[in-house]
Amino acid sequence: MRKEPLKLGFMASGRGSNLQSILSACKDGTLNAVPVVVISNKRDSGALQIASANHIPGVYLSPSTHPDPNQLDKEIAGTLTEYGVELLVLAGYMKKIGPNTLKVFHNRIINIHPSLLPAYGGAGMFGIKVHEAVLAAGEPLTGATVHQVNEKYDEGRILAQTEVKVKDTDTAETLAARILEQEHQLYVKALQDIISGKIDLDA
Ligand code: GRF
Repeated sequence: MRKEPLKLGFMASGRGSNLQSILSACKDGTLNAVPVVVISNKRDSGALQIASANHIPGVYLSPSTHPDPNQLDKEIAGTLTEYGVELLVLAGYMKKIGPNTLKVFHNRIINIHPSLLPAYGGAGMFGIKVHEAVLAAGEPLTGATVHQVNEKYDEGRILAQTEVKVKDTDTAETLAARILEQEHQLYVKALQDIISGKIDLDA
């Protein structure tokens, strides 16, 4: 078990509730980790507001700041490196990670997805669409997955999952809310296991 707190970098596009729950776990000692930077492709994202409220550097990087995708990718990897990020945590980041960042952070990027991957993942499967598809298929069970990130959407190695039962009365919104509560716990638990060495990212 490592003693030094693990330096976490985050990328997020939206409200940032997973970011918030991980920051809280860093603060209260549940996680032996320190958040060092939050990157967002949305200038007015909740995630950047959360970063600012917690005195964590927030960086806005998007096709508007860097129209050339290669330059954007290099700037992202450079920013993460500059802040000394050891593990990149995607928390509702809606863009694909570029090849340079994937190379620099090989096996060191994780994501959370609101389904039991490999089911209901892949291009176009995000947000409420995931839960609508689960309900349309009449699935009795869904959940959330933490996985490593590679060049394909939602296809990296699965690290942790939690199941959530679908209720007859569920709408996509009620299901999303129930899964989100579980996501917050699952992401922190997966990070605990990575830090303790129970999950080996190089396995
Ligand atoms: C979560 O449902 C997560 O599974 C998905 O994006 C959503 C982000 O929500 N990848 P939040 O911004 O953390 O509240």
